[in-house]
Amino acid sequence: MTTSNHPDHLLISQVSIDFPTPKGPFRALDKVNLRIEKGEFVSIIGHSGCGKSTVLNIVAGLYQATEGGVILDGREVNEPGPERAVVFQNHSLLPWLTAYENVELAVKQVFKGKKSRAEMKEWIEHNLTLVHMDHAMHKRPDEISGGMKQRVGIARALAMEPQVLLLDEPFGALDALTRAHLQDSMMEIQSTLGNTVIMITHDVDEAVLLSDRIVMMTNGPAATVGEILDVNLPRPRNRVEMAEMPEYIRCRHAVLQFLYERHGRKEASTPKAKVAAASADEESEPAKGNVVTMSKVTAKAA
Ligand SMILES: Nc1ncnc2c1ncn2[C@@H]1O[C@H](COP(=O)(O)OP(=O)(O)OP(=O)(O)O)[C@@H](O)[C@H]1O
Ligand SMILES: [Mg+2]
Repeated sequence: MTTSNHPDHLLISQVSIDFPTPKGPFRALDKVNLRIEKGEFVSIIGHSGCGKSTVLNIVAGLYQATEGGVILDGREVNEPGPERAVVFQNHSLLPWLTAYENVELAVKQVFKGKKSRAEMKEWIEHNLTLVHMDHAMHKRPDEISGGMKQRVGIARALAMEPQVLLLDEPFGALDALTRAHLQDSMMEIQSTLGNTVIMITHDVDEAVLLSDRIVMMTNGPAATVGEILDVNLPRPRNRVEMAEMPEYIRCRHAVLQFLYERHGRKEASTPKAKVAAASADEESEPAKGNVVTMSKVTAKAA
């Protein structure tokens, strides 16, 4: 964890949100509070439907909190901005553009006047190569798999060099090997750039491996922060070495206990579900793809 040069880099303060429904307002989040330091890697974990994406969307500036708010470096967040790139849970690449062009759109927006045409091209290719998409960068979203779309979304977000990277189950639709590779790249990139990351995940091991802190959310409605766990593992982290460390085992156990013993859902409380619980929420939809970066332009398009 890097030390903060601003006492409150990112502050989520007393955030509550009511969604309008035919039966009246539905309180999805109730008084969510979280203080995040610059360069910190924070994961949010919780059962399906508890409100994780809603928290992220509020930080992204896409949803407006009914009460409370978000402050980034002293300024209130009330709209999307390129300093907060999002990799969404659902696919949100522009379908008529190739992978390259999807990344280009974001890069042009952020680096116009700062990078030359050739530099931008190199930068776009660099980021697509990082996520192993260099071989298919001129394909359109309907010509590539869900996992590939997800990777383009990650490349697009990284290419914006955002201060805050908001990731909604970014590795959910990937095979285990690609997932591990991208988790490692994400740790490397983050340690180089020092950006703040908020990542939603259902995967307990992923949360422990990547995070400085794990925010565990209670079940909805009116979900809130239940507990926050500090992960005191040294960096750089090697997944094989970590797996044996007492601190790793302690953190993993603490998260599992929170999710499946203290805040278990009825459906997840059978012995079979408990065994399967180690690495995901049974309720989650399969193979959620992902992607997108946030900006005023792409927010509308998404
Ligand atoms: N735009 C909306 N209008 C009405 N209700 C909504 C809206 N967005 C989310 N909700 C409700 O708010 C709650 C939280 O939803 P959210 O998508 O944040 O959950 P989540 O924790 O991200 O779930 P998952 O793990 O399945 O992605 C759910 O009950 C959901 O139905
Ligand atoms: Mg979600």
